[in-house]
Amino acid sequence: MIPSHMQETELNRFDALAAEWDANPTRVELAGAVAAAILTHSRPERSARVLDYGAGTGLVSLQLSRHASEVVAVDSSREMLRGLESKLAASGIPNVKTCAADFEREPASLGMFDLVVSSMTLHHVRAPRPLLGRFQQILRPGGRLALADLDTEEGFFHGRPEDAFHRGFAREEVGQWLAEAGFGNISFHTAHRLTKKGSDDREREYTVFLAVAERL
Ligand SMILES: C[S@@+](CC[C@H](N)C(=O)[O-])C[C@H]1O[C@@H](n2cnc3c(N)ncnc32)[C@H](O)[C@@H]1O
Repeated sequence: MIPSHMQETELNRFDALAAEWDANPTRVELAGAVAAAILTHSRPERSARVLDYGAGTGLVSLQLSRHASEVVAVDSSREMLRGLESKLAASGIPNVKTCAADFEREPASLGMFDLVVSSMTLHHVRAPRPLLGRFQQILRPGGRLALADLDTEEGFFHGRPEDAFHRGFAREEVGQWLAEAGFGNISFHTAHRLTKKGSDDREREYTVFLAVAERL
């Protein structure tokens, strides 16, 4: 359910978090586990064109870039992408491109992809179902979608409940949305487990699923 107090400006709160994003070892570990699960379960060809939606500072994009011909890192936060661009400039990695865009507002024309991935972004998206439809449109037939997000949680994962539109997702519901959007061969995997103190200061365990689906 979308909290009614959530304002448009909240969508860009990631600009303020960008500088410190990679300094949190929990996030880095989570992104590493998600990238490994994506590679295990979607097995991209070396020639694959990959789109990472909600790429942030590129923690997942950079891992995937070693296994693909090109990774297009899309994010609505210019500052998160700036963090990725600094890393690209320092490392000389040539096959990661950045694109500031929000497909919920306006889909960018970026061509067709063999693999679309998204890690920990769907719960920040107001309406996930139309976004899955958009992913379907930019995937080649037989291409894969790999979505990592929180299994349903009680709403304590984020510092402030209003920082996310969704309290994770039920796998069954995501599976149904994927089927409705034109995906088949849908499978779910547990990509990561983490323990984190919630907004009420209590420690809880969270699981992160990876949904892999084929564009029919
Ligand atoms: C929790 S971060 C995850 C970043 C990265 N995938 C990672 O694993 O480190 C969520 C990212 O999604 C981006 N985001 C949120 N809503 C978005 C939207 N509607 N369109 C594109 N990006 C969005 C944020 O700017 C942020 O970088």
